[in-house]
Amino acid sequence: MREISIPPYAPMLMESTRALGYSLEAAIADILDNSITAKATNISIKFIPFGEPYLSILDNGKGMNSVEITDAMRYGSGNPLETRDLDDLGRFGLGLKTASLSQSRKLTVISLKNGKLSGRSWDLDHVIKSGKWSLLVLDKKDMLKFPQIELLQLQSSGTLVILQNLDRVGNGESDFEAAFSEKMDRVREHLSLVFHRYISGESGLKSIKMNINNEPLAPHDPFLINKSTQIMDDEKISIGDHLILVKPYILPHISKMTDAEIKMLGGKDGLTKQQGFYVYRNKRLLIWGSWFRLIRKDELSKLARVRVDIPNTLDHLWAIDIRKSTATPPEIVRKNLSRIVGQITEGSKRTWTFRGKKETDDSIVHLWTRLKTREGILYDINRDHPLVEMLKEKLDLKDHKFLHQLLKMIEMNIPLNSLYIDLTNDEKFKNNELYELTDDIKELAELLLENCKNPEERQRFFDKIESTPPFSQFPGKIVKYLKEVNHA
Ligand SMILES: Nc1ncnc2c1ncn2[C@@H]1O[C@H](COP(=O)(O)OP(=O)(O)O)[C@@H](O)[C@H]1O
Ligand SMILES: [Mg+2]
Repeated sequence: MREISIPPYAPMLMESTRALGYSLEAAIADILDNSITAKATNISIKFIPFGEPYLSILDNGKGMNSVEITDAMRYGSGNPLETRDLDDLGRFGLGLKTASLSQSRKLTVISLKNGKLSGRSWDLDHVIKSGKWSLLVLDKKDMLKFPQIELLQLQSSGTLVILQNLDRVGNGESDFEAAFSEKMDRVREHLSLVFHRYISGESGLKSIKMNINNEPLAPHDPFLINKSTQIMDDEKISIGDHLILVKPYILPHISKMTDAEIKMLGGKDGLTKQQGFYVYRNKRLLIWGSWFRLIRKDELSKLARVRVDIPNTLDHLWAIDIRKSTATPPEIVRKNLSRIVGQITEGSKRTWTFRGKKETDDSIVHLWTRLKTREGILYDINRDHPLVEMLKEKLDLKDHKFLHQLLKMIEMNIPLNSLYIDLTNDEKFKNNELYELTDDIKELAELLLENCKNPEERQRFFDKIESTPPFSQFPGKIVKYLKEVNHA
């Protein structure tokens, strides 16, 4: 037996890996992973749609010398089975090449280390012509012609990645510049989310400044940590020596979020689509907005989001793909997540259905009651609500049927379809926007109190008022008000 070495035919392999299915934003994120692994603290992205359009990424990481940069340009640099440094965001030794060339026909990398510049280019058209793995080695004169090079030279070390001949960006669009800038907005959103823990510099991470065309990227925290509630303790799932950390959050009720927050958290697709696990590999967001088919994406669990932190040492179990765009939890993790998820979505339902803790308390007299009947769900107006009772007393017995008809009409005519659409679109409702004690509510309280015929009834009124909507939303305030106006 003998062996022969058959390296792949370069033009064919390079062309095929262009079709891995990278989006522009995922491609850029993959290039940034390298900068972060190289300990960069500043990353500048330039996206220039006119003249000879290009996209460049400049970092101030540790840079590469001429040997390292040649290896970096190799398809399959390093070895995916080798243990990586714990803070390494790379995986297959492909990202730099496959991500860049998925969007462009020419990738140039120029790096500065120990005062020396080294530069290499993959030019697809050149490779096609030569039919070989012909990597272009740039001399200094060539390098100085590239855009942004003067900024690299001002640093003590770093790497500049330049994509030219952007044949996949704005492909098929009539207005290239407009398509370009729209895509850039998407890139901005994506990077702000994917790297938010690095940008904000959470404890244990050195903060990294990022900008696109000189505009800084703000961290986009999908958990709105300052306003959300964590309904369960952190969970740790251990697999061998490795730990997976699970932190469940419930976002605040829609009415407690600003429009900007709803937009940031829901994005284009809305909050319902964005619920689910947020899996971070080494603090870099990998995949999000999925329950891994453990439960359905339900309107009621739309406020639930679960942070899952995995180390890069468990890559083999999570089946991470080349683009770092999909990953599937291993069986042992699924089992644990499934248990946790049940408890969490229950919590999200509560936040969603009721406003604030008090209303979940069963001593409260609700105006609407929800009944599950054999024929379906029935929402009806509670005839025992103090206001309804009072009205009944005021009316003649023969007029009771009008009141009954009115209530029945309201019940039968809930605009369910438009409600459903509005809820799904995360619209805010003015209906239960009761943030302050309005004159209407004060007047209502006075009316009810005046209606009490004897001291016992007044006592009962005071016993009950704090737990009756709408007054229950202002604990302490109603009684105080009534005392002030000397009704009490
Ligand atoms: N910006 C950078 N700074 C320093 N080294 C880099 C940079 N980009 C790439 N490299 C080097 O090139 C190698 C190959 O990168 P890549 O193709 O993305 O594969 P991976 O990240 O999976 O190793 C990296 O492991 C790293 O050593
Ligand atoms: Mg990489």
